Amino acid sequence: MLKALQSPLRLMLERLELLFDKPFGPPWNPMRQLGTLAFFFFWVSAVSGIYVFILFDTSVSGAYPSIEYMTHEQWYLGGVMRSLHRYASDGMVVTMVLHLLREFSLDRYRGVRWYSWFTGVALIWLLMLSGISGYWLVWDQLAQYVAIGSMEWLDWLGIFGEPVANNFLTRGSLDDRFFSLLVFIHIFGPLFLLFAMWIHVLRVNRAKINPPRGLAFGSLAMLVVLSFIHPALSHPPADLGTIPTELGLDWFYMFLYPAFDLLGPGALWALSFGLTLLLFVLPWLPPLRRAKAPEVFLEQCNGCTRCFDDCPYGAVIMQPRSDGRPFLQEAVVNPDLCTACGICVGSCPMSTPFRSDAKLVTGIDLPTLSLDTVYERMTAAIAKARMERNTERPGILVVGCDHGANISTVEGDATHAISLPCIGMLPPSFVDFALSDGAADGVMLTGCSDCDCHHRLGIVWTEDRMAGLRDPYLRKRVPRERLHSYWAGPGDLAALEDELQRFRDRLIENGT
Ligand code: HEM
Ligand code: SF4
Ligand code: SF4
Repeated sequence: MLKALQSPLRLMLERLELLFDKPFGPPWNPMRQLGTLAFFFFWVSAVSGIYVFILFDTSVSGAYPSIEYMTHEQWYLGGVMRSLHRYASDGMVVTMVLHLLREFSLDRYRGVRWYSWFTGVALIWLLMLSGISGYWLVWDQLAQYVAIGSMEWLDWLGIFGEPVANNFLTRGSLDDRFFSLLVFIHIFGPLFLLFAMWIHVLRVNRAKINPPRGLAFGSLAMLVVLSFIHPALSHPPADLGTIPTELGLDWFYMFLYPAFDLLGPGALWALSFGLTLLLFVLPWLPPLRRAKAPEVFLEQCNGCTRCFDDCPYGAVIMQPRSDGRPFLQEAVVNPDLCTACGICVGSCPMSTPFRSDAKLVTGIDLPTLSLDTVYERMTAAIAKARMERNTERPGILVVGCDHGANISTVEGDATHAISLPCIGMLPPSFVDFALSDGAADGVMLTGCSDCDCHHRLGIVWTEDRMAGLRDPYLRKRVPRERLHSYWAGPGDLAALEDELQRFRDRLIENGT
C-alpha cells in the first residue's frame, strides 16, 4: 500500500530534481542537498539569532520596542539579521519536509536507516517548538495569539497544577518572570534541536552536513536579498485586553493554530500524536527484508581496513586477529547495520580477477551475489559483446546498479550489461580485466544519479578509485579513453542512452 504513495511522490520529486539539475548541476542541486541545507539554515538562524538577542530586551514592556528599534532604526543590520533569522528558520521547515518526503519516496527510511528516520521524527517537534517559541518573544498581537493558543493547547493535557494560560488573562497578568521562561524556551529549544540533529546523523558514516560552498553562498545571498526587499515586520503590540483579529500567520510554523480553533485542543492532540506515532512506526510497516550480510574469508583477509573505511553504514569493525596468521587485525561484519550493498567487496584488495584460482575467493563477499558470480556474468557479457562487435559497433560492457536507470534496456548493438547492488561493489581490477587484451572495446559505468547514490558513498568511492585517488585504484596502464562513467537515476534512461551513443561514437572515432 505504501508503494502507492511512494511511486507518485517519487515521480513528482524526480521531476523537481531534474528541473533543478539543469541550472544548478547535480552537486549544487538543492533537491539533492536537503539535509545539508537544513543544517546550513540552522547555522544562519543561530548566528543571526545571537545578534538579535544582543539588541533584545527580555522584559515584557521592553521586548516589543527593542524589536521595533532593530527593525526600523537599525534596519541595515538589526533588521536584516531579524529577517535572516526568520527566513532561515522558514527555510529549515521547507528543507526538512522535502527531505522527509524524499527519503520516504526513495525507500531510504527502513532497515538500518530506521534510526535516522526515527530521530528525524523527533526533530520535527523540536523544530516546531524552536520556531513557535521565537514568535512569542516579539510580544506583538501575533505573539499574543500564538502564545495563548499554545498555552491553552498545553493546558488541555492537565499536567500543570495551575493553567499556564492564566498568565495571559488580563493586561497586567504577564510578568517578567514568565516572559523570561518564554525566552529560556526559545534559547534551549534550538540547543536541544542541534543536539538532536547531531544524534540524527550519528550513525551515518561520513555524514554530509555541509552543503557545497557555492550552494551555501547562493542560499545565503538569496536570504539576504529577501531580507532587504521583504523585511520581517511586527504586528501591533500585544494587548491582553483585546482579541487580535487580523493576523498574518507564518504558515511554516503556524499551520496548526487555525486547526486548533477549528478542532479544539483534544482533537488536535489526537491528530498530532497519531501522525507522530504513524511516522515513528513507518519503518516497520512493513519492515525491510534484510539481505544477508557479507562473509569474511579469513584466509584471504590481511586486515588492511579498506572495507572498514569504505562501508557507508559503519557495519564493518576491525578486531584483533583470531586465526593466528601474522596480521594485526581482521574484518568482522555487524549484520544489524549492513544493507548488503557490496561496497566492501569492491574495496577489498583480494577482489581481483587476475588470479589463477579456479574459484574467485576474496576477503569479504556477499552470500547472495558472490564476486565469483559477478566475474562469470561479466565474462559472459563481454563474450557476447565481442561476438556482436564490428568496425561500426564497438563491444561495450555496461556496469550499473540496481537502484539507477534500468540498464537491461540498453543491451543490444554489441552492448551488454551487468547490474550490481551498488556500483561501489565493482573492484577497479575488474575494469582493468574487462579492457585488457581487447576483451571489451569500452566499459561504461553507471549507477544512481550524480550526488545521489542510494548507498551514499558508492559513486564517490568508484570515482576516486578510477581516478587513482583511493585504494584499490585502477592501474595507470588502463586506457582511460575506453572507460566512461555517467550517473543516471531511474528517470534518466533517455539521457543514459544518449550518453552511451556518444561513447560508442567516440570509440569508433578513436578506432577501438
Ligand atoms: C532539522 C531537520 C533535519 C536535518 C538538519 C537533517 C539532516 C540530515 C543529514 C545531514 C543527513 C545525512 C545525509 C547523508 O550524509 O547521507 C540526513 C539523513 C537522513 N534523514 Fe534527516 N534531517 C532532518 C530531518 C529529518 C526528518 C524529519 C526525517 C524523517 C522523519 C529525516 C530522515 C532522514 C533519513 C531517513 C536519512 C537517511 C540516512 C541514510 O541515508 O542512511 N531527517 N538527515
Ligand atoms: S555490504 Fe555494504 S553495508 Fe554491508 S558491510 Fe559491506 S559495505 Fe557495509
Ligand atoms: S578489505 Fe579485504 S583484506 Fe582488507 S580488511 Fe576488509 S576483508 Fe580484509
